[in-house]
Amino acid sequence: PRNLLDFQDWNPERLTAILDNADTMLQVLDRPVKKVPALQGLTICTAFFENSTRTRTSFELAARRMSADVMTFAAGASSVSKGESLRDTIEVLTQYKVDAYIVRHHASGAAHLVHQYSGKPVINAGDGRRAHPTQALLDAYTVRQEFGSLEGKTVAILGDIRHSRVARSNAELLPKLGARVVLCGPATLLPADLAALPGVTLTTDPVEAVRGAHAVMALRLQQERMSGGYLGSLQEYADTYQVNETLMAHAESGAIVLHPGPMNRDVEISTEAADGPRSRILKQVENGQAIRMSVLYHLLVGRD
Ligand code: CP
Repeated sequence: PRNLLDFQDWNPERLTAILDNADTMLQVLDRPVKKVPALQGLTICTAFFENSTRTRTSFELAARRMSADVMTFAAGASSVSKGESLRDTIEVLTQYKVDAYIVRHHASGAAHLVHQYSGKPVINAGDGRRAHPTQALLDAYTVRQEFGSLEGKTVAILGDIRHSRVARSNAELLPKLGARVVLCGPATLLPADLAALPGVTLTTDPVEAVRGAHAVMALRLQQERMSGGYLGSLQEYADTYQVNETLMAHAESGAIVLHPGPMNRDVEISTEAADGPRSRILKQVENGQAIRMSVLYHLLVGRD
């Protein structure tokens, strides 16, 4: 595929190639001059219809570090606010000779539509509750960096699984790379269909979820995507599901703590866990830039 919309058509070899290339990209980022000519002459549009800190900034930097021209489109400051449709917006932007899109949108499936409207390669930077593939790649990379391999590792993901594109993408990706995924949350936030994915199990019991886990990821409650809302209070949620030192005592001794961000400190994750020695949360952020460089290279230049 020339797009990265989700992991459906991606085999383990190509996924591993992206992780391997990220090692090289980290070396580039350690140089005094952090720039390579790989994407020279290409124009990349970051089309964000939903807010972002990490994904948007790291993609923009990743593209610039590889010498692409970057056109930044933020829906909030655009004619979308006057009612212009997604289709008309993308057809306009494509006239500026855009070679590839990086798309974030509140609607599941929007990234696929951008490919349809533009005919250009699209990287999904998060669409609704469906997929956030580069987040899952940087999560996988961070676990691999810690343990040398994903084979036989267990990643527990706790939180609002139902509304989380991060949980869904990790559940699709990690088993392809040999890891097991345990998804955990209150029953109302734990969609049963995910149990059908190979290598994925579901539980409402947080201690059971983290037992034997090499990495424990906390997810926030996405109240903006809850039509009915979470039935309990944030305090009730934190009392049972918060990733903190007490819960981490049940994980593997060398287990790491992950969070895709943005964090609600002392709700889904304690400040001690977020800032403690097990935390790799800022490492995830650092790795995100290298993974996004690797994805851009893989899709737009070549596979090796
Ligand atoms: N993890 C993540 O997607 O963060 P942003 O929303 O800040 O991009």
